[in-house]
Amino acid sequence: MNQINWYPGHMAKARRQMEEQLKLVDIVIELRDARIPEASANPILKELSRNKPVLIILNKSDLADERKNLLWKEAFEHCLITDSVDERLTKTVTDEVKSILKDKLERAKARGIRKKVLRAMVVGIPNVGKSTFINNIVKKKAAKAENRPGVTKALQWIRINEDVELLDTPGVLWPKFDDQNDAMLLALLGSINDDVLDKEGLVRFGLSYLSKIYPGLIEKRYGVNETEDHLLERIAQQKLWLTANGQVDLTKAVDLILKDIRSNKIGRITWQDVGE
Ligand code: G4P
Repeated sequence: MNQINWYPGHMAKARRQMEEQLKLVDIVIELRDARIPEASANPILKELSRNKPVLIILNKSDLADERKNLLWKEAFEHCLITDSVDERLTKTVTDEVKSILKDKLERAKARGIRKKVLRAMVVGIPNVGKSTFINNIVKKKAAKAENRPGVTKALQWIRINEDVELLDTPGVLWPKFDDQNDAMLLALLGSINDDVLDKEGLVRFGLSYLSKIYPGLIEKRYGVNETEDHLLERIAQQKLWLTANGQVDLTKAVDLILKDIRSNKIGRITWQDVGE
């Protein structure tokens, strides 16, 4: 995973760069992680995209709760649910982009431009799946995007079909650090760096949500059906994650549960609800 240190200089550069690039496109395709649809939004994209339409892509939907995917889709004005193995991606996205920009196409036609090619750019926080999405939509192995803000290179457009072209490099923006709950969710799913985190607090936070919303999944994975405090200790006991002197090994439990969450071993989970 590519990590970025988002210090203010980087943010300012990424912002300037994106402002320039956004002037060139008709529509923004914003990738979100379907497991955390709000937390994976960039805090300033709305401001930057101003009057441009934004098509929200709930990506990694294969990892998220199927029922909640549909509820989230309804919550956005323009939204598609996808994953990296979606074979109809190019057509679905093209159709949606043309439908969103219907008026613009009609105006172009009225001015005598019969075949206007619509321009789009893909944006999102690191690791949300932008490179994979672009490769899939272009149907070839494009180069891995440089996940570093402020790296300028000549802009190139990739024609995905007769209707739409994409900026070949996705726009990488920083995630939400300010809201504590969003930052915890990003950390829980590995979208922001581990090193500085209180991993035990993170896992307790995750288990508390799971025990409320998905108790069946906890029971299935760990054989523990308690919904009260000390769930972490109960799981460690049940799984016999113990230290040499027979105490529960919390460090081991924290690492293994965090790994389970990030690799979706517990199940398809959506960590945020519409309207929270
Ligand atoms: P980025 O450009 O936004 O930084 O993201 P990138 O495409 O590099 O994807 C980040 C990780 O997420 C990759 O896994 C990628 O395979 C995975 N991914 C992308 N889209 C989806 C999706 O719809 N569903 C699932 N389940 N995973 C997705 P990785 O482990 O970092 O790399 P690799 O295992 O693919 O080599």
